[in-house]
Amino acid sequence: MMDKLLDGHQIEQIVEHLARQIAADQANGQPLMVVGLLKGCLPFMADLCRSLSGFGVRVEMEYLRVKSYLGRRSSGTVQIFELPEVDLVDREILLVDDILDTGLTLREVARFFRERGAGRVRTCVLLSKEGRDAAVVDYLGTTIPDVFVVGYGMDDAEQYRELPYIGIVNQDKPDATSCA
Ligand code: IMP
Ligand code: MG
Repeated sequence: MMDKLLDGHQIEQIVEHLARQIAADQANGQPLMVVGLLKGCLPFMADLCRSLSGFGVRVEMEYLRVKSYLGRRSSGTVQIFELPEVDLVDREILLVDDILDTGLTLREVARFFRERGAGRVRTCVLLSKEGRDAAVVDYLGTTIPDVFVVGYGMDDAEQYRELPYIGIVNQDKPDATSCA
């Protein structure tokens, strides 16, 4: 069994709070290109976009496939796959990811969009681990302890993404990529 960190209702409140802030900053009526980082963004991005619509924000949805983690650790490099085939020039971009650890993923992806001429590039993550440098994040849902979490899109070796809550993985369970 897994210890629950945030239940569905708590997640819902965090998402609504984020959408309210983003909507307030999007008062210019411009459509927002929401770009989710697969696969972890999926439930969060769906809920966030529905909530944004409730606050009157028009969104377009795009996705990037990004890989930076090896097992339960950052690999130190970010690979970007499957780029949106759309004109990014002067677009208002909101990058959406599930959780911030080193911040490398979001920094690299934000740089990638800016280099391709995007207009305002902002970032939103549901969670950040405590003690991390979250300077790259414009909209942060909440900070959690320095533990490995799963659920609501987040995985441990591709398991548990479907959970409707966020739970803490038992750290004694071997990492699927460890040699032990
Ligand atoms: P960063 O590039 O070091 O900030 O790592 C962010 C990425 O690592 C996220 O998009 C997640 O895919 C993954 N990640 C970081 N911490 C966790 C965790 O506790 N559980 C599941 N995935 C995580
Ligand atoms: Mg990820």
